[in-house]
Amino acid sequence: MASVRNVAVYGAYGHTGRFVVAELQERGYVPLLLGRDQNKLQALAQDFPGLQTRQASVDDPTSLDRALTGAAAVINTAGPFASTAAPVIEAALRAGIPYVDVAAEIEANIDTFADFAERARAADTVVLPAMAFYGGLGDLLVTTAMGDWTAADEAHVAYGLSSWHPTAGTVVSGTVSGQRRNGRRVRYTGGQIEYHDDALPTLEWPFPDPLGAQSVIGEFSMADIVTVPSHLAIPEVRTYMTAKAAADLFAPDASAPTAVDERGRSAQTFLVDVLVRSGGTERRLAATGQDIYAISAPLAVEAVERILTGRTTTTGVASAGALFDAPDFLRALSPHLTLHTPLDTRG
Ligand SMILES: NC(=O)c1ccc[n+]([C@@H]2O[C@H](COP(=O)([O-])OP(=O)(O)OC[C@H]3O[C@@H](n4cnc5c(N)ncnc54)[C@H](OP(=O)(O)O)[C@@H]3O)[C@@H](O)[C@H]2O)c1
Repeated sequence: MASVRNVAVYGAYGHTGRFVVAELQERGYVPLLLGRDQNKLQALAQDFPGLQTRQASVDDPTSLDRALTGAAAVINTAGPFASTAAPVIEAALRAGIPYVDVAAEIEANIDTFADFAERARAADTVVLPAMAFYGGLGDLLVTTAMGDWTAADEAHVAYGLSSWHPTAGTVVSGTVSGQRRNGRRVRYTGGQIEYHDDALPTLEWPFPDPLGAQSVIGEFSMADIVTVPSHLAIPEVRTYMTAKAAADLFAPDASAPTAVDERGRSAQTFLVDVLVRSGGTERRLAATGQDIYAISAPLAVEAVERILTGRTTTTGVASAGALFDAPDFLRALSPHLTLHTPLDTRG
């Protein structure tokens, strides 16, 4: 029988997986350490004594079934998700437990909605993709900024990162996504995903203080172009990235994040600025914090906690904004996230 305190983390020894394991433990859960490499699992267990390790491969459904035994939920932090999402969701459905992932791959997120919506709903369970900095946080902010609006003309999510030292998982996931779209670019416009070859525009985004106006790359599409329109009637959803962070990401000598505090966070800071527009009215909301990988852990774990305690509004495949009381969720993240609200409301 599943213990409500046991939560499986697939890819537990990855950079993000480690943050998730630590966050689960801090909240009194008993993480089950899952991954494909037994040696790496054993090394991880040295840092988290007393936790069970379970080797499981996405090519071996029986190993996944064994690994999920007794788990109340599974958080998948193993990317590229093009390889891991479907097999781990299948295993979660067989086990009858909720599934949460941190996938930032637009194509993988689209597949999860397309391939599992019916079965997850029929199983009366929750499959929650992109429950992390990209995809999850933007969706919660947009949903909160919308307030009583059920539709808007446009949503803009501007990412103000001080720098971006990507993990190996980020780099390889970006490569896989790029290959899946044949090197084309992607945006959400006219109420649909569109692949294109246009050059990405560079423009100024007026971030609130202390960041102020910054040069950003427009149509730098992140998972929010899947999560936001999955439940909100907004035909134009655009995301932007500070030009400096985009240059860091693609630099040939890009280096992985290094820890600067006892939680393992890097010095990277972020400001996510959200603007929704309907007719002549704008609503805005921003959030600041430290380290986009580290913040993904409280996002995913808060989601699991709410799912396991029935604080959800639907079942099936759903994004964070559709599944949770978005303002309440964001307030619960206050130890990790500072909200700046409302910054600007013009009629
Ligand atoms: N949405 C967001 O904001 C957000 C935030 C954080 C992370 N992410 C995503 O999460 C993923 C992991 O990122 P990370 O920073 O933790 O990277 P990482 O430190 O490089 O870790 C990657 C993890 O994925 C595992 N993995 C990769 N391919 C696998 C496969 N086919 N089967 C089983 N395990 C596999 C790796 O195991 P091995 O060492 O055995 O290869 C490792 O545990 C990336 O896709 C990243 O984009 C997204």
